[in-house]
Amino acid sequence: MAKEFCLLRGCMGIFVQVRKVHVSAVVASEAGQRLKKFDIYRWNPDKPEEKPQMQQYSVDLNTCGPMILDALIKIKNEVDPTLTFRRSCREGICGSCAMNIGGVNTLACISKIDTNLSKSSKIYPLPHMYVIKDLVPDMNNFYTQYHSIQPWLQRKDEKKTGNRQYLQSIDDRKKLDGLYECILCACCSTSCPSYWWNGDKYLGPAVLMQAYRWIIDSRDEATEARLGKLKDPFSVYRCHTIMNCTRTCPKGLNPGKAIAEIKKLLSGIAKKDAPDLNTAALQN
Ligand code: SF4
Ligand code: SF4
Ligand code: FES
Repeated sequence: MAKEFCLLRGCMGIFVQVRKVHVSAVVASEAGQRLKKFDIYRWNPDKPEEKPQMQQYSVDLNTCGPMILDALIKIKNEVDPTLTFRRSCREGICGSCAMNIGGVNTLACISKIDTNLSKSSKIYPLPHMYVIKDLVPDMNNFYTQYHSIQPWLQRKDEKKTGNRQYLQSIDDRKKLDGLYECILCACCSTSCPSYWWNGDKYLGPAVLMQAYRWIIDSRDEATEARLGKLKDPFSVYRCHTIMNCTRTCPKGLNPGKAIAEIKKLLSGIAKKDAPDLNTAALQN
């Protein structure tokens, strides 16, 4: 324990020195800074003997963009290049920057920095996931589960593709609203207690919402097979309607409702409507 503590202190010392050099440079050049503290989860797979730790950084909000991702990029560019996180689009579209900020799973690029300078912002990776490094979770299980629901259009009449579109009425198309917008950030699944405890067998809200997106698509004809695959005690029925998923979704979607719709179809309470347009006939 003592050894770990010393290692931690030694490691922190190096980072503190780096930070001090940077901070003192800023202090010398600028008055009236607005220094905001960020406590960030760190873990380095190249030093497995060192336990995960929280590391504190200070950022002058006068020279930083308004979002948490801006602060992370500033820290990485100007203070500590070893800080590791995913990002790509910086506008809430790619889902890469999902992390736990101030206790909420959300996207760093669309989360405003809390400008209360007396409080530090705490940033962790998405909860209950294996960590690859710092804020980067291992998404392999999540993507394997997504692949398992076969997220592509399936037809019985396999036609040569590329000739005509599969048509859909305006009303049938509307059924996909609130489903297709999902960016697969996994904020919902990693906020779900059922997914925390049974993530190997329970598909979780993100993947189930995408399963429903294909089940309900009027052009898809694999509905029975899709539902058949979900008929076991774990894939869907581990959802206990706790609704953490819907509360946390940064895109304002409702995966809890999609799961409820799947349950209705599985139990026979609801049936998928016949398509408004016979798109196969329209292709001939
Ligand atoms: S509604 Fe279902 S999927 Fe959503 S958090 Fe609750 S248990 Fe998890
Ligand atoms: S439903 Fe929302 S929280 Fe869940 S993966 Fe999709 S966009 Fe992310
Ligand atoms: S960087 Fe793409 S969603 Fe945040």
